[in-house]
Amino acid sequence: MSMGKPLPHDAAPLHVTGVARYVDDIPLPAGALHLAFGLSTVAHGEIVSLDLSAVRAAEGVVAVLSAEDFDEMPDCSPSVHDEPLLAMGRVHYVGQPVFLVAATSHLAARKAVRLARVELRELSALLTVDDALAANSRFEQGPVIWTKGDPAGALAKAARVVEGSFEVGGQEHFYLEGQVAAALPQEGGDVVIQSSTQHPTEIQHKVAHALHLPMSAVRVEVRRMGGGFGGKESQGNALAIACAVMAVRTGRACKMRYDRDDDMVITGKRHDLRIVYRAGFDGQGRVTGLEFKHLFRCGWAQDLSLPVADRAMLHADNCYHLPDIRIESHRLRTNTQSATAFRGFGGPQGMVGIERVMDHIAHALGRDPLEVRRANFYRAMAAAPGVSPPDPQGILPETKEGVDLASRGAAVPVGSHALPTDGPVQTTPYHMPVEDFAGHELVAELVRSSDYVARRAAIAEWNRGSPVLKRGIALTPVKFGISFTLTHLNQAGALVHVYQDGSIQLNHGGTEMGQGLFQKVAQVVAGVFGVDPAVVKITATDTGKVPNTSATAASSGSDLNGMAAKAAAEVIRGRLAAFIAEKHQVKPAAVKFVDGMVRVAGEEYDFARVAGWAYQARVSLSSTGFYATPKIVWDRMRGVGRPFFYFAYGAAVTEVVIDTLTGENRILRADLLHDTGSSLNTALDIGQVEGAYVQGAGWLTTEELVWDGKGRLATHAPSTYKIPACSDRPRVFNVALWGRPNREESVGRSKAVGEPPFMLGISALYALSDAVAACGDGSVYPSLDAPATAERVLAAVKRVRGDA
Ligand code: MTE
Ligand code: MOS
Repeated sequence: MSMGKPLPHDAAPLHVTGVARYVDDIPLPAGALHLAFGLSTVAHGEIVSLDLSAVRAAEGVVAVLSAEDFDEMPDCSPSVHDEPLLAMGRVHYVGQPVFLVAATSHLAARKAVRLARVELRELSALLTVDDALAANSRFEQGPVIWTKGDPAGALAKAARVVEGSFEVGGQEHFYLEGQVAAALPQEGGDVVIQSSTQHPTEIQHKVAHALHLPMSAVRVEVRRMGGGFGGKESQGNALAIACAVMAVRTGRACKMRYDRDDDMVITGKRHDLRIVYRAGFDGQGRVTGLEFKHLFRCGWAQDLSLPVADRAMLHADNCYHLPDIRIESHRLRTNTQSATAFRGFGGPQGMVGIERVMDHIAHALGRDPLEVRRANFYRAMAAAPGVSPPDPQGILPETKEGVDLASRGAAVPVGSHALPTDGPVQTTPYHMPVEDFAGHELVAELVRSSDYVARRAAIAEWNRGSPVLKRGIALTPVKFGISFTLTHLNQAGALVHVYQDGSIQLNHGGTEMGQGLFQKVAQVVAGVFGVDPAVVKITATDTGKVPNTSATAASSGSDLNGMAAKAAAEVIRGRLAAFIAEKHQVKPAAVKFVDGMVRVAGEEYDFARVAGWAYQARVSLSSTGFYATPKIVWDRMRGVGRPFFYFAYGAAVTEVVIDTLTGENRILRADLLHDTGSSLNTALDIGQVEGAYVQGAGWLTTEELVWDGKGRLATHAPSTYKIPACSDRPRVFNVALWGRPNREESVGRSKAVGEPPFMLGISALYALSDAVAACGDGSVYPSLDAPATAERVLAAVKRVRGDA
């Protein structure tokens, strides 16, 4: 079987030899033009005048466009048509594209941009969540509020209460390959787009709309991205649209690649937010009542902010059973970059809040935070033997189609039916039964393998003898929901060809961004035909081959496309089996495909020979495949349903040391145990877990975005924005996979792995909190904001020591 094998990434040799082709490496036809945007220099203002004459006259410039050149301004938004390609009269953030230049070289375009004379009348800008709250500037009428149980009553009765408020910073994606796109005009007005995007269909849709073409006239191809991390779900739209519009106007191929500084200034990042909490708890640290308020700074346009903020609410429980909870989520509009998808899609923001509550409660009780965490865990199903979980269909309204609709995965609004209540199987704040909670066993295993208990004691001892350096340790768990919360996105298509020489070509709707999706899906298809994965040719994502795809996002790339490709391959295998079976007068089921051979009735043939015979016998050797995730149903307004097919679990122990004189700190050791189900490829999965942890820890420690009082991003280059370097990796880094098969029928019983381990990085923040707490007498909680930079750690040390 090829599924599960730890094979290397299919393009690894190409990556390391520099042969892997990215959009910027694709040769363009003669006469191709290069594009650059002129950007707004104020956070909010009116365009008084725009003098582009010097830009037009600059060397190499072929065309210049601004708002006045459009009868109808193309829109770049993935959600609500609120992102004009170029500013129209007003600018809404520093970095907003105002005009577009096409020149004969990348450098010429960039140089010309600087010659513009733009007169802007500055208006007052909303830069912070406080500014936005005061102005009631938001993307929905008011906050979204989900309530379960009686949180106010529970809080009123609580033995003890902790409360607090903390800031959580955003994050720059820092994909190594920046945003880039190219448009190639075709005959009859058609266009082909090459784009570094996680969402080829979105690019196709937006370009078609901008050019007033049917989607069928636009073909988008994506071989690979040099990283996306959510930053290429929607942020590539502007470049592709700009190229397409310019290509049509000039009749020449156009390419646009943001310089790194421009990329950081123009595009959206992870949402920063403020989390306000009030938690009641008992003597064991069990949460009785809880209130969360999320204040999301969404930036100037809506983009994906609503589903991101929803996912934060959906992960406000993490691994903990919270019977009485209220979550209030504000999606605030500010004059900053439009915050967007980033690995975890709001999940990390939700989780970091409840982990803060656990940490705070433990501090208040003087207990090991791990005890408090465990005391609040969802009940393990094993603890309730013989109890079947509530029927997920039970929460559906009684429509004529009822159950049928749910099994097709349609977004069915949930009616006034009785919700599943907390019986033996506990439910989340959004009333989804947690049927397979793995936290108890997984954490027990990690506690053992990481030697947590002994190390915690040893650290306390070490700290007593170390006045300047202090160590800290924390174990945090993860429970992450898998599926798009916009239910209809949970579908995928694939196209498989077997050629007459037995070689196989694979195509599907997913995109490759380094995560190894193509290799995994190739292994699935190879498994169906019983051939070596090397026989399966991986091809670029292409809207002309598989249409109407969802973004490769929500970690569901292999779940969805793996299933679709498997379905396609099985159709062809079925035809081959029927053909061979008939020749041997046996049932098709008696034909086996193993080790590159087809076995039947004691005979054995090369797969390639069988393919050749089938071709000659006029058997179709090509098939599409399709998959739609079952069982999911979700009412986002009420916050009720089963938005996720299943959960992926994990846990991490991080040990840190801080210097109490400077606040400098480093991660000494990390032990990770992550649930991948029956892994499709353990090597790739370990890579995902390691990379995600480091990226998650970077978000909460060193990666600080700073805007000045004028809304200008001060950290717009690697010189000032600090992503983790090789030297920042944990010195001891133990990574293991928890390989229990998925209880749901996912592809090969695997689990999605792209995002969930990102949140293992949260343990780094609370290890720092533990180290800071060790500086005081226990009376003052460290209250660390994130990222816990050296400055913030130092300030927290002073706070707990009472010398502020
Ligand atoms: N891994 C690499 N190397 N590069 C990436 O850009 N993106 C992450 C994750 N892992 C990313 C990555 C994000 S945000 C998602 S949603 C998933 O990969 C998407 O791919 P998948 O669904 O195939 O896991
Ligand atoms: Mo990932 S943030 O869902 O692209």
